Amino acid sequence: MNIGLPETSPLIPVVVIDDAADAPAVAAALIRGGIHCAEITLRTAVGLEAIRAVATEIEPGFLVGAGTVLDVDQCDAAVDAGASFVVSPGLDPAIVERARDRGIPVLPGVATATEVQHARRLGLHAVKFFPADRLGGLATVEALAAPFADMGFVPSGGVTAANLGDYLAHPAVPAVSGSWMVARSLIARRDFDRIEALSREAVAIAASAPRVRGDGR
Ligand code: 3PG
Repeated sequence: MNIGLPETSPLIPVVVIDDAADAPAVAAALIRGGIHCAEITLRTAVGLEAIRAVATEIEPGFLVGAGTVLDVDQCDAAVDAGASFVVSPGLDPAIVERARDRGIPVLPGVATATEVQHARRLGLHAVKFFPADRLGGLATVEALAAPFADMGFVPSGGVTAANLGDYLAHPAVPAVSGSWMVARSLIARRDFDRIEALSREAVAIAASAPRVRGDGR
């Protein structure tokens, strides 16, 4: 199931960063840990600057996207800063359209069957399921995946090393996203070794999760 994001990794780290100068080091730690993408949220004032720093300083194979994109202006600003994909907490058709106009993948958030149906009508093949833990986790993904057999769900919110394998074992889950391997506190104290270790652990868990995808569903 192609969600327009890196096929090499079913893991999307969600980065909330307070100092843009740390962003390339975070990306480098993720790469050492085996993860080649990151969603840098626009939740902090330096989000765009951090995206720009990673887009210009880190190897071209690393995909940096923008998270917490709440309107079309932020979508434009993110793309201008070098974002290769955008993620929203909710479903806004204007953002979906703008991301398409700018030629990049978009992963909007959904929480209900009605929103999944709307996303489907917009031609989307994957959505962020947010906030996954508060919405019932895997059991709710299963329930939503039953009627929407052609939709991929990327759980986000409360994903950890303890549950990512269960999520990824579900055929409707092409990827998971979350902040557990790049916790804001880890970045703030510049513990890049820990970010690398947590990334490596996540990659190993993801690699061992039984995967049945696409036509195999
Ligand atoms: C978010 O957008 O905040 C993500 O869902 C990450 O959630 P987490 O911090 O619980 O991993």
